[in-house]
Amino acid sequence: MHDAAIESLPFDVWARDRNGVCVSQNSACYEHWGKLVGLRAEEVNAPPEVIAVWLGHAARALAGETVRSDVDYVIGGEVRHVHKILAPIREGDEIIGTLGVNLDLTELRRLERKLREAQRLETIGLLAGGVAHDINNIVMIILGMASMARRRVPAGSSLDSDLSTIETASRRAAAICNQLLAFAGKGHLDVELLELDAVVAETVRLVAASLSGIAIELDVARELAIEADATQLRQLIMNLVLNAAEAIGERHGTVTVRVVAASAEMVAAAAVDDVGFAPAPGIDYVALEVRDTGGGMTPETRLRIFEPFFTTKARGRGLGLAAALGTVRAHGGGLHVETRLGEGSSFRVLLPRATRRVATPAPAEPHASWRGSGHALVVDDDAEVAAAAARMLGELGFEPRVCRGGAEALAALDDAAAPAVVLMDLMMPGLDGSTTLRRLHARHPGLRVVLMSGFHDLAESPLDAQVLAKPFTLDELAHAVRSALS
Ligand SMILES: Nc1ncnc2c1ncn2[C@@H]1O[C@H](COP(=O)(O)OP(=O)(O)OP(=O)(O)O)[C@@H](O)[C@H]1O
Ligand SMILES: [Mg+2]
Repeated sequence: MHDAAIESLPFDVWARDRNGVCVSQNSACYEHWGKLVGLRAEEVNAPPEVIAVWLGHAARALAGETVRSDVDYVIGGEVRHVHKILAPIREGDEIIGTLGVNLDLTELRRLERKLREAQRLETIGLLAGGVAHDINNIVMIILGMASMARRRVPAGSSLDSDLSTIETASRRAAAICNQLLAFAGKGHLDVELLELDAVVAETVRLVAASLSGIAIELDVARELAIEADATQLRQLIMNLVLNAAEAIGERHGTVTVRVVAASAEMVAAAAVDDVGFAPAPGIDYVALEVRDTGGGMTPETRLRIFEPFFTTKARGRGLGLAAALGTVRAHGGGLHVETRLGEGSSFRVLLPRATRRVATPAPAEPHASWRGSGHALVVDDDAEVAAAAARMLGELGFEPRVCRGGAEALAALDDAAAPAVVLMDLMMPGLDGSTTLRRLHARHPGLRVVLMSGFHDLAESPLDAQVLAKPFTLDELAHAVRSALS
């Protein structure tokens, strides 16, 4: 029984006599090291410096010490982290040999590293999300004011072109904020039912236009719908396809974009990957795969690709995959990466498949010259953001009044007639947007509300209001207010 138990242990176990000759080994030991029985340590096929360490341990164990050490061995072509214990075997007062055990801690170390990495990314996410939120508010003022000022200057004038430069720069700043917010899981999520094939085809067409000399092959199954934020989804596809194209660079190569219903194997593969995906039972997934025949990644790069600002490119920002990760997580999905140095990489995103079918959208109406009228209430804790939004509402024909928070807005509504529209921030200290909204609706059931948000997540979305992502231009504000009023 005793022997059988040792034989079945999944760790290397061996014993040597006083002369260092191996007298027994279990089958795990045999599998990893070959036949040791009858051999002294010096006769084992291993580098001389390793053998020197073994002999040192053996001498100490024979002197009565239990020797513990951590070693990395390459076993079967793989690095294994091993905790080795070498103990004296005693018979009465006499030490008659040594007993060795190699505990393989590789898997444990991998899990520890994964946990540390997840905690690190979470900390960076909190920081990045906070900074991006504040900067987004500032960008909203710049973009809003510039778009409004443009209305007052003759089209094509030099002032118009300066203002247009400010608008373009603000949009670039907003795009960086958006990637950071997406990474932090705080991106603006406007979930709608989408046919994945249509979104993929359209996005790939856009990206392909900017890439010359790289073939993009599409293999896209139809009628796979998902519920997702269209902007984030397009950004995700774009980030993956651009990375794939950049991995090919000047060489010849192909990028393949594939959309299929995910198989059980695909779901299982994504579940063991490092993005913390736990497949929900009873849910089908759709797989979106971007594969390239580019340079692949080294193991060191592979470990860090989701870190924001990690890049190996001269002109990269290192935000593409960080944002992709946040987007995938916010949508309850998984991500599986495979890469081979010199051969290419594949990124496979899994997203929950929607059970509803997509209805044909109504065509959008033009809103450029639309004007409203009546009182409008602006609720935002940031005085400058509130002032900018109020000026924009004024430009649209409303008489705006500013409130610095939810409580002030409720009080303002008590002593005045209901405004035509309320433009309110979703994230405010004190009474937050959703609570304020509920109370406003309780008092004035028909109140028209537009929520401004740079910070929105799924859990908060079933609110009965228009949502406008910060920053926005005058046209975008006009569109949102108009939809709220209609
Ligand atoms: N398809 C790929 N093949 C090889 N390496 C890749 C691939 N995709 C990503 N990487 C590696 O991951 C790193 C991070 O990618 P990520 O998209 O986050 O940032 P970036 O492409 O460097 O910059 P940005 O996307 O912000 O312009 C890249 O710099 C690159 O080293
Ligand atoms: Mg990138």
